[in-house]
Amino acid sequence: MINPKKIVKNFNPYIPGRSIEEIASKYGLQNKDIIKLGSNENPIGPSSNAIESIKKNLHLISQYPETNLNNLIKGIALYSGVSPSNVIIGGDGADELLDVLGKAFIEPGDEIIIPIPGYMYYEFTLKIHGAIPVYAKWDVPSNTLDVDSVINAITPKTKIIFLCTPNNPTGGLISKDDIRKVIESTDAIVVVDEAYFEYSDVNNVDLLEDYKNLFILRTFSKVLGLAGMRIGYGLSNPEILEYMYRVKPVFSLTKLSEIAATVTLQDKEYIKRSTEVSIESREFLYESLLKFKNLTVFKSKANYLLVDVRNTRLTANQLSEQLMEKGVIVRDCTSFKGLDEYWIRVSVGTIKEDKKFINILHNLIG
Ligand SMILES: Cc1ncc(COP(=O)(O)O)c(C=O)c1O
Repeated sequence: MINPKKIVKNFNPYIPGRSIEEIASKYGLQNKDIIKLGSNENPIGPSSNAIESIKKNLHLISQYPETNLNNLIKGIALYSGVSPSNVIIGGDGADELLDVLGKAFIEPGDEIIIPIPGYMYYEFTLKIHGAIPVYAKWDVPSNTLDVDSVINAITPKTKIIFLCTPNNPTGGLISKDDIRKVIESTDAIVVVDEAYFEYSDVNNVDLLEDYKNLFILRTFSKVLGLAGMRIGYGLSNPEILEYMYRVKPVFSLTKLSEIAATVTLQDKEYIKRSTEVSIESREFLYESLLKFKNLTVFKSKANYLLVDVRNTRLTANQLSEQLMEKGVIVRDCTSFKGLDEYWIRVSVGTIKEDKKFINILHNLIG
């Protein structure tokens, strides 16, 4: 008899956004006719420099990657305004660093505080290390963190507190004062997840000078357009990073990912365009969705919008299936804790994709 770890026996797998291939085969559609607005990817694709440099270096794939990522670390330090000793890189994206935090800091029975609705991967990754999730509140109507609910949840067992800003899936920001308030209330590690910070024009790197227990989590998957290359990074004090380096997978960042990431950071024009296109498109999509009388849409500082669909009399599952049948993938948020079955999250596409989505939506519920 096969006997997994006790915790794995009743473990629920993570439910990711749906893929183009899956929807094409389910509804008999062509891949090229599907618009993917479900996983907060970059609608303009990667930097052309990333594509060229990958092509040029394809012959390197017979070798193991380097363990010493000095060039990329320097690039990230420069981009973020920190020193290289404050940087760690994750080779399965930012998600890998969540796992490394678990490996380095979580003892079974330790508590982690997660405001909900929030990014569900925190709990998925850390529970396996024995962490107990304790939920705080993200106030959806005002789209702000209920900071007191976080502070009231702190106990001597709290090991990590997650603050996602802009918050996924709601798109609201956490004020710097509230972040300070949380950090000053605890010795636990406070992970400020800035996966989408470029779309919001604010960040919290300045707080690293004041606090030893701050870890800023970031990714190359959004503005930097490299979700498929799986590159994340963390910014923190060298003591936290030293423990993480001890247990981090050694070869998880592939050579081609390292090269793509390094040249993307040098492509300032791409980064500017990528940010501007999504912000403009976000505002267009927001205004367009506001016109639907049976939808409630929330202002967002990220590259997605949270939408309450209950007045359409459809559940999120029903509406998202109807949209997918017509070739549009959105995120059904039913699996997000803190939301009921009437919420979808729509990623920002190009304005052309947004318009196509709005037309299809209009035909379904307008
Ligand atoms: C809030 C948040 N944090 C972290 C991540 C992980 O990003 P990565 O693709 O680098 O693993 C995501 C991905 O969607 C996210 O939404």
